[in-house]
Amino acid sequence: MAIFKKKITERVLPTHIAIIMDGNGRWAKKRSLPRTAGHAAGSKNFKDIARYCNKIGLKYLTVYAFSTENWKRPKEEVDNIMKIFKEYLEDAKNFKDENIQVQFIGDRSVLDADIQRLMKESEDASADATGLHLNIAINYGGRDEIVHAVKNIVDSGVDANDITEQTITDSLYTAGQPDPDFIIRPSGEYRLSNYLIWQSAYAEYWFSDILWPDFKPKDLDRAIDDFNKRNRRFGGV
Ligand code: IPE
Ligand code: IPE
Ligand code: MG
Repeated sequence: MAIFKKKITERVLPTHIAIIMDGNGRWAKKRSLPRTAGHAAGSKNFKDIARYCNKIGLKYLTVYAFSTENWKRPKEEVDNIMKIFKEYLEDAKNFKDENIQVQFIGDRSVLDADIQRLMKESEDASADATGLHLNIAINYGGRDEIVHAVKNIVDSGVDANDITEQTITDSLYTAGQPDPDFIIRPSGEYRLSNYLIWQSAYAEYWFSDILWPDFKPKDLDRAIDDFNKRNRRFGGV
């Protein structure tokens, strides 16, 4: 009966959208281009989508740029992804004028020293921005993040009986941020690939066959419309 259908009166934005930017390689293959070209197109698309999220007033966006598992790829591809990441960082000051606050999540200690320096500069330069909070996950793995959190908790000397869910939440890279309420994965894969596994406990998911470089603002709008149709219960009735 119609009364059971959720009536959409006003579109609400999720508070925190997390995107798995997947499908760059297949996008390139479809065009008979090297995978490198797919990563370059994916990087450009990331900038467009981040700007769009800022424009519509989204509070938090977390993008998956490179996972702890992606080191398994051929060295040439990894080097190329890092090169594209460095180019983005060198250009990142552009973001500052747009009032986007940038933060990197993941284990940066193993990245090249110049990349680490640029990451810090980018975070420092945008620290006072009040628009979109953009997390870029680089050498990020959800399990690795939890191990890192547990080490910090043990190091702090806290009594085991005092450890709560909040203790762990506060020790993650995303400490102080709301959990993602909407996780988007283009590229036709239906998995998390070790992304935000603690934080996503009650997220809504949206999957699509679109390959990341083809994922446009209109697709994000469609996803947000679908989010608005979800009935989130959090274990209640
Ligand atoms: C995502 O695209 C980018 C990274 C994982 C760095 P892929 O490179 O995984 O693209 P597909 O999945 O091979 O198409
Ligand atoms: C997830 O994509 C990681 C990023 C998008 C950075 P992958 O392409 O690495 O994931 P799998 O291997 O298909 O699970
Ligand atoms: Mg992939």
